[in-house]
Amino acid sequence: MKILLIGSGGREHAIARQLRRSPLLSQLFIAPGNPGTATLGQNVPIKETDIDDLLKFAKTNAIDLTVVGPEGPLVLGITDRFEAEGLKIVGPNKDAAQLEGSKKWAKDKMARYGIPTAAYESFTDPSAALTYLRSNTRYPIVIKADGLAAGKGVVIAQTLIEAEHAIQEVMVDKKFSDAGTTIVIEAFLNGEETSIFAFTDGKTILPMVPAQDHKAIFDGDKGPNTGGMGAYSPAPVVTDAVYEKVVERVFKPLIEGFQRDGIVYKGIIFAGLMICDGEPWTIEFNARFGDPETQVVLPRLKTDLVKVFDAITTGTLDQIHLEWDNSSTVCVVIASAGYPETSDKGRVISGLNSPLPDGVWVVHAGTAATPSGDIVTNGGRVLGVVAQNETLDAAISAAYQGIGQIKFNGQYNRTDIGAKGLARLL
Ligand code: AMP
Ligand code: GLY
Repeated sequence: MKILLIGSGGREHAIARQLRRSPLLSQLFIAPGNPGTATLGQNVPIKETDIDDLLKFAKTNAIDLTVVGPEGPLVLGITDRFEAEGLKIVGPNKDAAQLEGSKKWAKDKMARYGIPTAAYESFTDPSAALTYLRSNTRYPIVIKADGLAAGKGVVIAQTLIEAEHAIQEVMVDKKFSDAGTTIVIEAFLNGEETSIFAFTDGKTILPMVPAQDHKAIFDGDKGPNTGGMGAYSPAPVVTDAVYEKVVERVFKPLIEGFQRDGIVYKGIIFAGLMICDGEPWTIEFNARFGDPETQVVLPRLKTDLVKVFDAITTGTLDQIHLEWDNSSTVCVVIASAGYPETSDKGRVISGLNSPLPDGVWVVHAGTAATPSGDIVTNGGRVLGVVAQNETLDAAISAAYQGIGQIKFNGQYNRTDIGAKGLARLL
């Protein structure tokens, strides 16, 4: 099968790596890809949001199946365009992708389907939002831009003054342009976060193993939020009982509700959850795999990923049974100086060819290859070191051993990835 994978991050390197394991794969193209994906298939220089050119490429090259990594093209309607031409594509259509593209849409659906989520109100008028905030006495409170804001559209306001400032920035000053025309204000949930993904063909939903991301830039979950500084799977905060609740109270009602409302959702559903005293609450849904969680979830999948993706497009996911490895996987992200505010480019990365411990590999994200063959930094999150081992403890040690081999100017990584999981296992 000829597959086109869209995206260029660590997530896409991890998806490519898993696709490569399938005997069903004949050729793999990645648009635009990165130097890591270039070792697994052929990179194609087309931007992920350039839907016309992606469609043309898929038709010209007789691509059998397209897999969409990031949310941008989904929200723009890439799936509708491909399906209109009779092409198979993994990812929800424009209507269903509102699950990630509009926080208000997603919250309204959660409320309608009885999915546990924080109490909320939505606003399009800044003065109405301010009146509401002034009558609210419970802080912290969470203020969210409705649309896509590259993971930066959420403010956790500790005081009324911070909340008023957020309304000014998001709704009046339009910090996220139209993404902040509507906002959601919701109650703060106090607990431990986890990410659980599921495959769905719109009828059957197959949840994956849980992972935990580390969103804050500094150790101890301090400092501003990033795209994710590391992850591990499984996440012990998700006990079997919690997992069962997530399946029964979150995933099943969502897909059954979509069916009742005539929303056809085919692809990946990412549930971002807060576990509060053993009860799962939904913080948000995304319409795609997470990054860096994918780097730790997919290596544990024993079932052929090409088969799963194909079944999503043909509506035969009921024929698939997912099998998982019992190992633990850890991914530690190395970022460049200044991240998440800025990022530094063009720093030469050394140590990529040094031998790594068994069960350790590097996933590229913000890297680029120079004409002279060097690999240089090219973004905030530069790469991830992934380790797979029998225990979480061993996987963490191996990942940090791997990190020790990689050097570039200004490199930064958290030193406590997986620590919350280890503490739960003691
Ligand atoms: P989101 O973009 O919705 O994932 O929000 C970004 C981050 O803000 C989440 O990963 C949480 O850490 C935090 N967050 C969002 N909503 C809430 C909430 N209701 N209570 C507590 N933390 C939240
Ligand atoms: N790691 C969180 C995300 O992909 O949105």
